[in-house]
Amino acid sequence: MIAIVSDLHSNLEAVEAVMDHCLKLGVKEFLCLGDVIGYGPDPLAVTRIAQKTFNVSLMGNHEEALVTGKHRFNPLAARAIDWTRSVLAGTTGPDAAIPWFKERTPFVLKGNLLLVHGSIYDPVHDYVDEPENPVEAQQMIETLSRDFSGFDICFAGHNHTPFLATTLGIMVPHDGHRTFRVPKGHKAYVCVGSVGQPRDRDNRASFATLDGDHLTFHRLKYDFQRTQDKIISAGLSRFLAERLEQGM
Ligand SMILES: [Fe+2]
Repeated sequence: MIAIVSDLHSNLEAVEAVMDHCLKLGVKEFLCLGDVIGYGPDPLAVTRIAQKTFNVSLMGNHEEALVTGKHRFNPLAARAIDWTRSVLAGTTGPDAAIPWFKERTPFVLKGNLLLVHGSIYDPVHDYVDEPENPVEAQQMIETLSRDFSGFDICFAGHNHTPFLATTLGIMVPHDGHRTFRVPKGHKAYVCVGSVGQPRDRDNRASFATLDGDHLTFHRLKYDFQRTQDKIISAGLSRFLAERLEQGM
């Protein structure tokens, strides 16, 4: 079983809850779609987990901002990434965090799976928008049929919202129905949601597992109040703390 995680955003409590649960599930491999850091209060601890445990860890837009200093972030995200850089700059030696993030790549092709942070068109910055009406859904299906070549399933993060788009239709997971089979030969976008800052009005950590052709979306409660306290103590924005509770 493979776990696909994304957008951890320096949220240690959410990451630990997910890792513990994955160990119980028997997960053998962790694929991370980027944004390990940014926004949250524990960049170093979460980076260490990524370095030690993840088989793949992609370059997200927050990693890019961390290592280049270039971004189009709002002031809150910008302040958080500058603070993150100041914390991680203190690490040296073979596990030094910033050089490690510089080596991350924006996409990985793994068998019939393409892993990106953003989308197939721009793996770092573009968003896979959740199709909200039949016309958008049809456009998404056309994208899958037209542009998914050389791979069958693209796993994406960045939009912090879990859903599955296949040539058969769009599915949004919820508690009653969260395991799907992706039939062989069909194309699919799998947006795995965010571990550390969900934005679909559900404050539980979001990730996905793939076991053969069975794809399962998971949601896990974690101690977000502890993360909120740490955000405030670090002098980061109160809004970044509040949105963890609201899941948006
Ligand atoms: Fe992102």
